Amino acid sequence: KKRIVSGIQPTGSVHLGNYLGAIKNWIPLQDVYETLFFIVDLHAITLPYDVQELSKATRATAAIYLACGVDVAKASVFVQSHVRAHVELMWLLSSATPIGWLNRMIQFKEKSRKMGDENVGVALLTYPVLMASDILLYQSDLVPVGEDQKQHLELTRELAGRLNFLYGGRKWKKMGGRGGAIFKVPEPLIPPSGARVMSLTDGLSKMSKSAPSDQSRINLLDPKDVVANKIKRCKTDSYPGMEFGNPDRPECNNLLTIYQLVSGKTKEEVSQECQDMNWGTFKTLLADSIIDHLHPIQVRYEEIMSDSAYLDRILVEGATKASSIADATLNNVYQAMGFLKR
Ligand code: AMP
Ligand code: TRP
Repeated sequence: KKRIVSGIQPTGSVHLGNYLGAIKNWIPLQDVYETLFFIVDLHAITLPYDVQELSKATRATAAIYLACGVDVAKASVFVQSHVRAHVELMWLLSSATPIGWLNRMIQFKEKSRKMGDENVGVALLTYPVLMASDILLYQSDLVPVGEDQKQHLELTRELAGRLNFLYGGRKWKKMGGRGGAIFKVPEPLIPPSGARVMSLTDGLSKMSKSAPSDQSRINLLDPKDVVANKIKRCKTDSYPGMEFGNPDRPECNNLLTIYQLVSGKTKEEVSQECQDMNWGTFKTLLADSIIDHLHPIQVRYEEIMSDSAYLDRILVEGATKASSIADATLNNVYQAMGFLKR
């Protein structure tokens, strides 16, 4: 069976971008592939964070995975920091990662620009190496993520290739390895729509956890009236009718895409249905559709959070299973890189 891994940071609350770009697409994969979904708490400390909140947000994010349909009978769910191999492999990988590759990362450039060199932790720069470690440890075939992670995935692929070249191949065979590669080179799996959900207040920037205004995003746990209010107040334009793909109408395209995905309709059906609507009518339809879609998720979330022993057990089981896969890869890498066997 091919293997799939993905994860989300436990920072802020999970929003519709995370859901439509990532989590929602994980669900059908569970039936076809071996899946591992983790909460990347080690990534969450790369920017200033709230120490009191980290463990709560980690549990809440795990509960959201389950509420959205991640099924622990099929998938492993665990916390990144519970599997020590992630940090360990990261060190080994970082020895072969050119600084230039990291300096070129768009997310690093954007985040660090706002902060200034004296305030940027080294971990913000090496963040993609940890992400590569998350993926390569499990010999993953596919990584379902939103558009913004494409560059990080490309770096992961290049790193895998570089390590295979430096330490794999003939050298690796001679040492009794299975021959060939140390790491499988993974492929990104980016959805055809929903890969880049935009802000409600600006159709040109992506919906994000870190945007200062909560009006810019729909959080999965937003109550009904909050969703209705955010949609009512979101940015519109003065064109008649609703249409996909008009570059002058990014908000319209974004909201139609959201409607398409939460209603489960096709793009053609949505075009037909909405082309003659005015903004008022469309917004009511959209708000109702989001509320209906989120309602069962919110109910399940409350149920899961009310049974903390259950959640803890899931996370222990997930970490145990993940560790056994991760440790095998890690040991191979130590050997291939020439370390004394312990
Ligand atoms: P993060 O919130 O950075 O931990 O992102 C978790 C997952 O959600 C990743 O797969 C991202 O690519 C995806 N994601 C984040 N923001 C968006 C967005 N606005 N639209 C689509 N996918 C997103
Ligand atoms: N960097 C990703 C994000 O912010 C989260 C992430 C960390 C991830 N490790 C991963 C996603 C491994 C997929 C696979 O969205």
